[in-house]
Amino acid sequence: MSAPILRAEGITHAFGSLVVTDAVTLALAPGERHGLIGPNGAGKTTLFNIIAGEIVPEAGSVHLAGVNVTRATPDRRARLGLARSFQRNNLFTDLTVRENLAIACAIAHRVSHVAWKAFARHREVHESAEARAVALGLEDVLDTVARHLSYGTQRQLEIALALALEPKILLLDEPTAGMSPEETAAMQAMIAALPATLTLLVIEHDMEVLFGLADRITVLDYGKVLLQGEPREVRDSDVVRSRYLGTQ
Ligand SMILES: Nc1ncnc2c1ncn2[C@@H]1O[C@H](COP(=O)(O)OP(=O)(O)OP(=O)(O)O)[C@@H](O)[C@H]1O
Ligand SMILES: [Mg+2]
Repeated sequence: MSAPILRAEGITHAFGSLVVTDAVTLALAPGERHGLIGPNGAGKTTLFNIIAGEIVPEAGSVHLAGVNVTRATPDRRARLGLARSFQRNNLFTDLTVRENLAIACAIAHRVSHVAWKAFARHREVHESAEARAVALGLEDVLDTVARHLSYGTQRQLEIALALALEPKILLLDEPTAGMSPEETAAMQAMIAALPATLTLLVIEHDMEVLFGLADRITVLDYGKVLLQGEPREVRDSDVVRSRYLGTQ
């Protein structure tokens, strides 16, 4: 593998006496699409929180583009190119998709609120918001107020906002959770169309979605790595089949 852009090594963390991640090691090459699966409570979201800097692990290290960020703030990690999709309540629900994208663009360029009015008038900002929407298939809803979007499109907009920071690595925690089949298909298409240079780490319960998008998959079980491999190896693994894939 070329030098990993994200490396988590020997990550161990407990909440009280419950060991939630147990010596987890993960390395992603630039541009890799890496899936993370495991049953409820396996420690997937905790691992994301450790990679993003919201939790400092008891043991182990996190490196981004070769820089040891184990104790770095989430903000420093963002500046090194790490993003995760915003939670839904981070959307400006009374503003349009275009305005949400323009604000994300302003944040990415660290424009202060004092200069915001002038910034918002800039043609380039609107053009960049528009280009971003077109690239992500959101052009039809550019002038729709965010709270009037369907749930699925709101979640797509969250990802669009995270992408405005022009990250190198994007963490997605269950991007299709709670979606209808149509919304899931739209989200799948959006993820599939992301730039090939973007590195993705995706938690996903929907195996078909995951098998479709991932180059490699890590299976977590009670905080431990059970298996790491290509989708085919995961699909063919007896232990994974019997425990997670039912009759597939
Ligand atoms: N802040 C916390 N304090 C105490 N326990 C926590 C905390 N966060 C998570 N846990 C516990 O750690 C375990 C792992 O949780 P985590 O959210 O990482 O699992 P997950 O694999 O993302 O599960 P799911 O598929 O349900 O999202 C669970 O037992 C959870 O209850
Ligand atoms: Mg979770």
